[in-house]
Amino acid sequence: TPAVPYVQELAKKPFTSVPPRYVYPVQDLPIISLDSSSPQVPVIDMQRLYSDDFMDSELQKLDQACREWGFFQLINHGVSSSLVEKVKLETEKFFKLPMEEKRKYGQLEGDVEGYGNVFVGSEDQKLHWRDCLYFTISPPHLRKPHLFPNLPPSFRFSLSLSLNNCIDLFQETLEAYSFDLKNIVAEILRQIRKKLRMDETEMTVLLEGKQVMGFNYYPPCPQPDQVIGVLPHSDFGGIIILLEVNDVQGLQIKKDGLWIPIKSLPNAFVINIGDTLEILTNGTYRSIEHRVTINSLKERMSIATFCNPKMDGEIAPAPSLVTLETPAMFKRIGVVDYTKRLFMNKIDGKAHLDSMR
Ligand code: SIN
Ligand code: FE2
Repeated sequence: TPAVPYVQELAKKPFTSVPPRYVYPVQDLPIISLDSSSPQVPVIDMQRLYSDDFMDSELQKLDQACREWGFFQLINHGVSSSLVEKVKLETEKFFKLPMEEKRKYGQLEGDVEGYGNVFVGSEDQKLHWRDCLYFTISPPHLRKPHLFPNLPPSFRFSLSLSLNNCIDLFQETLEAYSFDLKNIVAEILRQIRKKLRMDETEMTVLLEGKQVMGFNYYPPCPQPDQVIGVLPHSDFGGIIILLEVNDVQGLQIKKDGLWIPIKSLPNAFVINIGDTLEILTNGTYRSIEHRVTINSLKERMSIATFCNPKMDGEIAPAPSLVTLETPAMFKRIGVVDYTKRLFMNKIDGKAHLDSMR
């Protein structure tokens, strides 16, 4: 990964034109429908999935959302709003830390984890107008100790000088938040399995998977049409839970040839299906292309929590969904190879998933 500057720093300095590697003329893309009459992603009420009266109709709605939109908003998800507020606050605090502090979490050569411009594929890849703190949080043994420094006390002693309270509190909050989100993912996967009549073990590659978090910071840009927060892409993992931190809109999803902006509801998570789940469901559920645009005046922050497949697993359409009428649409592949491909290639819409056909 070639070292690139932090956009947060870059955007602070006055400039007359966007540095060339970030120039991505947004208006060259399909029409954007930004008016309030544009269709919005379905809203799923998690409580209804547990209520005798509503569970069937709500599951039907979830199924429909995953087939047609690949995106939905989840309300009444049970994560306490005080915890969510804390996560937001700690995230804002992290990005406000002085650069010397944040740099301690910088991406190391050849590793996507850490604080940086995560997916810099090749030299000719356009750069995102975004900084990201990205790391594995679960299972704990896969945490990078230099990013997640909560080691046993004996280990911690020598490190504690370089730690500050801010990061400790951040970590404590994240333990609780990531735990709750893991349960939500497990529940959604269980519901999906039920609806599609998949076998018990066919979700294991995700249920025993890796939980990864990305904290995104999108600085404002005086020429927002010249930059892109995140290039059009589909997500690699199984299920992704997005939390918008500060109510600045930016996420857009591609539907029927249009970019549809997502307006996150209060106390809701924006959830989407990733490539892995599209493969597992043999194309029944869709991993949808999305991108992030930039605001001219306001910074945007978001937190994505990814449920990625376990590294020693394999990905293929679930055997129970492969029939004579619905033959396998994707190849079988080991997760290690599947992951390597993602980071080898340029970010290019659904190219990663399409290479699996
Ligand atoms: C992403 O899709 O990578 C980020 C989404 C967001 O920040 O809204
Ligand atoms: Fe994404």
